[in-house]
Amino acid sequence: MRLNNKVAIITGAANGIGYAAAERFIEEGAVVFIADYDNDAGNAVAQHLGEKATFIQVDVANRESVKQLVATVIEQVGCIDILVNNAGITRDAMLTKMTEDQFQQVLDVNLTGVFHCTQEVIPHMVAAGSGKNY
Ligand SMILES: NC(=O)c1ccc[n+]([C@@H]2O[C@H](COP(=O)([O-])OP(=O)(O)OC[C@H]3O[C@@H](n4cnc5c(N)ncnc54)[C@H](O)[C@@H]3O)[C@@H](O)[C@H]2O)c1
Repeated sequence: MRLNNKVAIITGAANGIGYAAAERFIEEGAVVFIADYDNDAGNAVAQHLGEKATFIQVDVANRESVKQLVATVIEQVGCIDILVNNAGITRDAMLTKMTEDQFQQVLDVNLTGVFHCTQEVIPHMVAAGSGKNY
């Protein structure tokens, strides 16, 4: 197993690609934190994946929410080996009809969310002398 006891945070892992990644990481021996906005799907996925999966609700667009996520993971397991910045949204619309609000929502999650998560996790990886960010 390539990820034996590695601790991974996968954002947006309650659905889709993130969920598939969480399942695969666990098959490879990782301990996975499902970090997602969707409470119902997050709890269901964590239950389905078993004891190596934990759901923590987070809004990656919100700095304080991300700080709480990282603090909870460190408190529970003491380290973070892998961060997968997968959470994302689309607000599809014709460019000429897209509102400022739609555009800003995508930036807040898909861009600022990555900045928040990476910036909060990196110090723990630096302190540990290892870690991977995706
Ligand atoms: N599916 C594709 O074809 C495709 C192609 C290119 C890139 N992507 C990107 O890959 C990622 C996953 O795509 P997917 O198709 O699995 O999407 P999905 O919609 O199935 O899953 C995205 C997950 O992110 C979560 N999420 C949304 N906003 C969040 C927030 N603010 N905080 C925390 N979690 C939040 C959702 O609840 C959901 O569980 C996205 O970033 C997407 O933009 C997808």
